[in-house]
Amino acid sequence: MIAVIDFGSQYTQLIARRIRELGVYSEIYSPFVDVRELPLDRIKGFVLSGGPASVYDDNAPVCSSEIFELGKPVLGICYGMQLITRMLGGVVERSDKREYGFALLRVLDKSDIFKGLPDEFQVWMSHGDRILKMPEGFRAIAETENTPVAAFKSDHRKIYGLQFHPEVVHTAYGKEILSNFVKDICGCESDWRMESFIEQSVREIRERVGDEKVLCALSGGVDSSVVTLLVHKAIGDRLIPIFVDNGLLRKNEAKEVLETFESLGVKIHFVDASERFLNRLKGVTDPEKKRKIIGEEFIRVFEEEASKFGKIRFLAQGTLYPDVIESISVWGPSSTIKSHHNVGGLPDRFDFELIEPLRFLFKDEVREIGRLLGLPDRILKRHPFPGPGLAIRVVGEITREKLDILREADAIVVEEIKNAGLYHKLWQAFAVLLSVKSVGVMGDERTYDYVVAVRAVESVDGMTADWSRLPYELLGRISNRIINEVKGVNRVVYDISSKPPSTIEWE
Ligand code: XMP
Repeated sequence: MIAVIDFGSQYTQLIARRIRELGVYSEIYSPFVDVRELPLDRIKGFVLSGGPASVYDDNAPVCSSEIFELGKPVLGICYGMQLITRMLGGVVERSDKREYGFALLRVLDKSDIFKGLPDEFQVWMSHGDRILKMPEGFRAIAETENTPVAAFKSDHRKIYGLQFHPEVVHTAYGKEILSNFVKDICGCESDWRMESFIEQSVREIRERVGDEKVLCALSGGVDSSVVTLLVHKAIGDRLIPIFVDNGLLRKNEAKEVLETFESLGVKIHFVDASERFLNRLKGVTDPEKKRKIIGEEFIRVFEEEASKFGKIRFLAQGTLYPDVIESISVWGPSSTIKSHHNVGGLPDRFDFELIEPLRFLFKDEVREIGRLLGLPDRILKRHPFPGPGLAIRVVGEITREKLDILREADAIVVEEIKNAGLYHKLWQAFAVLLSVKSVGVMGDERTYDYVVAVRAVESVDGMTADWSRLPYELLGRISNRIINEVKGVNRVVYDISSKPPSTIEWE
C-alpha cells in the first residue's frame, strides 16, 4: 500500500482515491504520525500531499525526516515537494502571488515517473512558493514557462517532487504519472479491490479484538449499517449492535431495519426508548434544545444498555474519511490538531477503544462495501436522515399525535416520489409538520387542522441546495393523498426556498 501524508490540501483525499482507483490500497496519515507506528511492512511508498501553508510559516506542518531514510520511494506534491526541498537542504522561494490554473509542462526526463508520456502536456498548478535551489543530488525533470523546476528527482534515492497536481482531472496524464510512481517506482501490484478491503478489515478486526466483545450503535443509516455488517463478518455475535428507537423515526423504520439485519443473520439489541425521549422533549420548542436533549438522552440509553453486557473494551463506529478530515484539517495558528479520536461520536468518558474500519473511505466506497456485504438498496441508497429525526421536522412542540401525523404524511411524500422515479435524483424529500392550524372545508364541515410542508431538494453535498422543480401533477397527487388519507391535515404547501439562505431542514 501507499501512505499519503496529509498536509491539509483540499486534494489529499483525491490522491488516496486515485491510487485506490489504480488498484493499490492507500491510507492517509497525519504528518505528526510516529513513523514507527506505521505499518511499514506493507507500505511500499509515500506521497506527501499539498497544503495551504508555506514551508517557512511558523506553524508549517513537517513530517518526520525518518521517512526519507527508509529507502522507500517518496513523491512530494506541491507543498510536499517544497517540504522535501527544505528538509533536504534546498531553498524555497517565498512568494505572495499564487500561480493558479493551467500550465504547459515540458518533460525533460522520461525515464521513470513520466515514462510513456508526451513531451508536452497540460497540468494544473496551484501554488505560491517555488523551488529556488534543489537539494544536493536532485535535478529538474520537467519545467513550465514560469516554473523552471516543475518536477524534480533525486539521482541516488527514489525521491520525486511535482509542483503541479496529478490527482486532479485538469492535469492530462495525471493518472499515468501516479501509476508510474505507484506501480513502477514503488513496485505495487494492481491487485486491490473492495473485496480485498473487506478481507483485510476482517482480518485486522479479528486480530485486534481477539475473543473480546464489541459494541456499536446502529442507526439504520449507511455508515453504521456497513460497520455493523463488516464487524459482524469478522467476529459474529460477539458484536453487539444497539439500535435505539427514540420515537422520532420514520414510518416502519425500526421494523425495516430490524428485518433487514435479521435477514442478514445479525442479531440486533433493540431498545424502545421512545417514551423517555418524548417525555424529555415535552414542552420544548427551541430546535437546538431539542438536539441537545436527544443527544444526551441517546448517550444515557446507550450507556445503560451497554452496561447490561458487562465491561466491553471496543466500540465500532462508522467514521468516514470526510469526518476525519473535518476534525484535523484545521491548521490553525496554534497548529493544534484535534485527534481523530471520537470524531462525531460518543463522549470521551466512555473510554472505549475505537474500531473505525471505514475511516479512510469515501461515501461511495462505503456504499460499494455495503453492496458487497449484501445490504439492500433501501438502506444503501436512502436519503440522509438527521440524527434528531422527526423532532426537527415537527416545527415547535413535539407530541405523539403530531409525530404520528407527520409519519403518515412523510410516507406518502416518499412513496409518490419513488413511484415517479425521482427518488434517486433528489438529495432529500420529506414532509414537515407545522404547528399552525388553518381552516378548511371537508364535505359540509369546517375543519381546523394542521399544515404539512413538503420539502424536496437537489444537492451535491448538502452544503448548498436548490428546491426541486417537481412536476405539478406529482405535487398535486401528494397534496391530495395527504389531505385525504392523513387525519388532522387539511392543507399542504410546497417549500420553494433554496439553501442558502434557507436550510434543508426547517429547524
Ligand atoms: P441543513 O438543514 O443544515 O441540513 O441545511 C444539511 C444536512 O444535514 C442534515 N442535518 C442533520 N443531520 N443532525 C444530523 O445528523 C442534525 O442535527 C442535522 N441537522 C441537519 C440535513 O438532513 C441535511 O441533510
